[in-house]
Amino acid sequence: MPMMEWSDKLSVKISVFDGEHKKLILLINKLADAMSQGQGHQALDDILIELVDYTKYHFSHEEESMQKYNYPDFASHKLMHEDFVSKVGETKDKYEKGIISLSVSTLNYLTSWVQNHIMKTDANYTDFFTKAGLK
Ligand SMILES: [Fe+2]
Ligand SMILES: [Fe+2]
Repeated sequence: MPMMEWSDKLSVKISVFDGEHKKLILLINKLADAMSQGQGHQALDDILIELVDYTKYHFSHEEESMQKYNYPDFASHKLMHEDFVSKVGETKDKYEKGIISLSVSTLNYLTSWVQNHIMKTDANYTDFFTKAGLK
């Protein structure tokens, strides 16, 4: 069973961002699968790097759209993105250096952060972006 599953309750009703959220979920599931298969350090690190890179790409994309249309909650939204990027980046760095191992609690953190962020923070831009003409 995948770690995290897409469902309509996660939809922000903007197709490009729904697509990017699906890809983020796919990468978390890829990491969970690789961990449960007992894949090696390098393989897990490669997935972590992919996850960090894609997260940055997605956050930048949201932030560019927010700036373009003067989204009122841009600053606080961006702070949440930065906080997550720094936490996941720190996890990746510590894993690479052998300071920590990846665990179920790592996966739970990623899953719950992404789910909460989409449902409680990203969902707030649905009406704004829809009125701005994004689909
Ligand atoms: Fe998002
Ligand atoms: Fe966001």
